[in-house]
Amino acid sequence: MKEKLQALRAKALDELSAITSSDDLSKALEEFKVKYLGKKSELVAVMKGMGALSPEERPIMGQLANEVRGDIEAAFSEAREKAQKADLERKLIEETIDVTLPGKSSPMGRPHPISAVQTEIENIFIGLGFEIVDGPEVEYDYYNFTALNIPPDHPARDTQDTFYINSNVLLRTQTSSVQIHAMEKKRPPIRMISPGRVYRSDAIDATHSPMFHQIEGLVVDKGITMGDLKGTLELFSQNLFGEDTKIRFRPHHFPFTEPSAEVDVSCFACGGKGCRLCKGEGWIEILGAGMVHPDVLRRCDIDPDEYSGFAFGLGIERVVMKKYNIDDLRLLYENDVRFLSQF
Ligand code: DAH
Repeated sequence: MKEKLQALRAKALDELSAITSSDDLSKALEEFKVKYLGKKSELVAVMKGMGALSPEERPIMGQLANEVRGDIEAAFSEAREKAQKADLERKLIEETIDVTLPGKSSPMGRPHPISAVQTEIENIFIGLGFEIVDGPEVEYDYYNFTALNIPPDHPARDTQDTFYINSNVLLRTQTSSVQIHAMEKKRPPIRMISPGRVYRSDAIDATHSPMFHQIEGLVVDKGITMGDLKGTLELFSQNLFGEDTKIRFRPHHFPFTEPSAEVDVSCFACGGKGCRLCKGEGWIEILGAGMVHPDVLRRCDIDPDEYSGFAFGLGIERVVMKKYNIDDLRLLYENDVRFLSQF
C-alpha cells in the first residue's frame, strides 16, 4: 500500500506538471481535480483498502495517505493559482486599449432647410407674442373650405385640387383651416401661428408638389386694423430677410379675408434693383394676407362689430427656395445629403 500511495503521488504530480503547459488550463485542472482529489479518485479507492490492514499498519498508512493527499492538494492549488495569474496577464496584454488613438467621429447631422426655416419663422413670431398651434392634416370639408367662405361649387375649390377621403373628409389644402379651430376653441385675444403640411393633387415638377408646408397666422382682438397687419409683416420680413427689407401690398382676392392682399418683400439678393432671383422685378412675392372676413368671425361665434382680425398664409418651401436660391423644389424632397449639407 505504501508503494501504491507513493506511486500515486508521483503520477499525480507528473501529470499536474504536464498540465501547466497544456492549452485549456481550467478544463484540464478541473479534470485533474476530479481524477485525483474527487470522491471517486484512485486515492479514495486505495484508502478504502485500509480496512484490510493490521491495526499497527493502519495509522501509518493513514498518515501517509493524508500526506499524499496534502501534497497533491498543495501542488494543485499552486498550479491553479499560476494558471489564473497567467490568464490575467494574457488578458491584460490582449485587451490593452491605446487611449491615445484618435476616436471614430460620427458626422453631425443638421436640420433640413424646411425645418430650419420653419423654426426661424416660429421664433420670430414667438418673439412677437404669438402662440404656436397645431391642426389636423386630415380635415373636414367644413374647416378647409365652407367655414372659410368657400362653399361647395365655389370656383376657389378648383384652384386647390383636393385629395378627398370621402365627400366630407379630405387632406387639408391650406393651413387656413386652423384659423377656424383656433377661433372655435379660444376667445379673443387670439395671436397664433400654425405651421404644417398641406396637400394638393398636383403633379410633381420644379415648382409643384402634392405635399408642401405652410404657416398660417391669425390675430383677433378689439381694434385690430390693416396697420397692425402691415406692421407685423414688416417686422417679420426684416427679421427673416434683413433689416433693410421693405414690404409691398398688392390687392388680391381670398374668400376668407376682406380686403385681401398679396405681399411682396424687396429682393434680398439685389436690394430691389432687379436681378435673376427676383426676375428683374426688385420684389419677391412671399405670402397672402388680409383682414378676417366678418362672416368667418361670425361662424366662429365672434361678433365682428366688437372684434376684428388679420390673417396671413405663407409657403415655407417658397421662402426656402428664395432664401437659398434653389430653383427646383424636388431637391428639397430627394434627401440627398450632398445637396442638403450645403445649407
Ligand atoms: N390659404 C391661402 C393659400 O393657400 C393663403 C392665405 C391667403 C392665407 C390669405 C391667409 C390669408 O390666411 O389671409 O393660398
